[in-house]
Amino acid sequence: MRARAAAGEADDVNDTRVRLRRELERARARTHALTTVPDSELTAQHSVLMSPLVWDLAHIANQEESWLVRRVAGRAAVRDGIDEMYDALRHPRATRTELALLDPAGARAYAAEVRDATWEVLDDCDFDTELTRGGFVFAMIAQHEQQHDETMLATHQLRSGEPILDAPAAPRTGASPDPDRVVVPEGPFTMGTSDDPWALDNERPAHRVHVEAFVIDAAPVTNARYLRFVDDGGYDRRELWTEDGWAHRVEASLDAPLFWSRGEDGRWVTRRFGRRIPVRPDEPVVHVCFHEAEAFARWDGGRLPTEAEWEKAARWDTDTGESRRFPWGDDDPGPAHANLGQRHLGPAEVGAYPGGVSPLGVHQLIGDVWEWTSSRFLPYPGFRAFPYREYSEVFFGDDHRVLRGGSFGTDPVACRGTFRNWDLPIRRQIFAGFRVARDAEGASDV
Ligand code: AVJ
Ligand code: FE
Repeated sequence: MRARAAAGEADDVNDTRVRLRRELERARARTHALTTVPDSELTAQHSVLMSPLVWDLAHIANQEESWLVRRVAGRAAVRDGIDEMYDALRHPRATRTELALLDPAGARAYAAEVRDATWEVLDDCDFDTELTRGGFVFAMIAQHEQQHDETMLATHQLRSGEPILDAPAAPRTGASPDPDRVVVPEGPFTMGTSDDPWALDNERPAHRVHVEAFVIDAAPVTNARYLRFVDDGGYDRRELWTEDGWAHRVEASLDAPLFWSRGEDGRWVTRRFGRRIPVRPDEPVVHVCFHEAEAFARWDGGRLPTEAEWEKAARWDTDTGESRRFPWGDDDPGPAHANLGQRHLGPAEVGAYPGGVSPLGVHQLIGDVWEWTSSRFLPYPGFRAFPYREYSEVFFGDDHRVLRGGSFGTDPVACRGTFRNWDLPIRRQIFAGFRVARDAEGASDV
């Protein structure tokens, strides 16, 4: 019996190692694809909102080195004296081109050297400390790299000039979800997780939350729906906006989602990764800020869902009452479940992922576009910063709003029903859209 248990454990450790190796390799392949561009594109400041790509590249490696090579293995620094330059909290994105950054060749060489050391650390690891249990810190680093890959993808979307990236078109065979609104009955559900080994600190711990009955859109708000708000003067109707929202709308002269413009025939076009394309009616709207989402929801007679409502709609299993990892169950996301992982360079039409529908019939909660919620980014009861305060804790408070569900640019390893993203309510360069919720009074006739 002892021997069998030991053999079982050895298999688990081996499976964890194989899986981590695959996740780290996938992340690096994506990083490579996003940074295999002329040096001038890597060192340029494409937008004041973003780092030069060469900063992200070396920051990815520096984070990996700090946690895996130095912290887990106790080894010496791979490069001395560069941590400060790649500390995100010390240097705002807009100022990073002024630093004495590693040049493109230097950043690539650094990342490769760190990765060589990481493979040795991974091979030697017994996964028996708090940091490494279940492979956590390696998975945290794979998620970190993928998060920066999504950020770099947003930088590519902001850059001007000829297209560099390519991918097959997202599925456009979607049929409109039916029904178009779903009632989520009143009652408690389990929010967050205590047992997903790769969940980050802000997703923990699992806790019961009572949620009043509410109604939620079966799909994210489409461009067609959003255009009706635009055409109805939504951007000029003060009463639809909060005070902060209106102030921003005026100051930033918002009149349509970021990247939209009117073509010669008066129709809306958008720019996607350097290509001009028509605004497609059945795709989720993307590149709107929290304030635009809120104004639309008010115009539509509803409101944004709270974070708890979103998570209940996504995870609550109507049969068992338990919370699932994903709307479709506990299986890792595959191409039939959701539009994730930069497989496509844009959201898919609503209805395009019947394989990803939640038990209550809600579509595309995972993938396509991050969804703004009405919730501030706050700790769950019993939160403990782990393994560092600078991932989540320093961002808790009134400044940020939570986004859920991941976008077409989010990798599956950094996306699950419990995953929490956050940003400032004025940000539009992220791949964010939303869906509308409403209180359940009168919900019987939806
Ligand atoms: C969770 C996406 C808000 O990019 O600011 C990357 C992720 N944290 N490096 C961010 C992150 C540290 C974070 N977001
Ligand atoms: Fe980072």
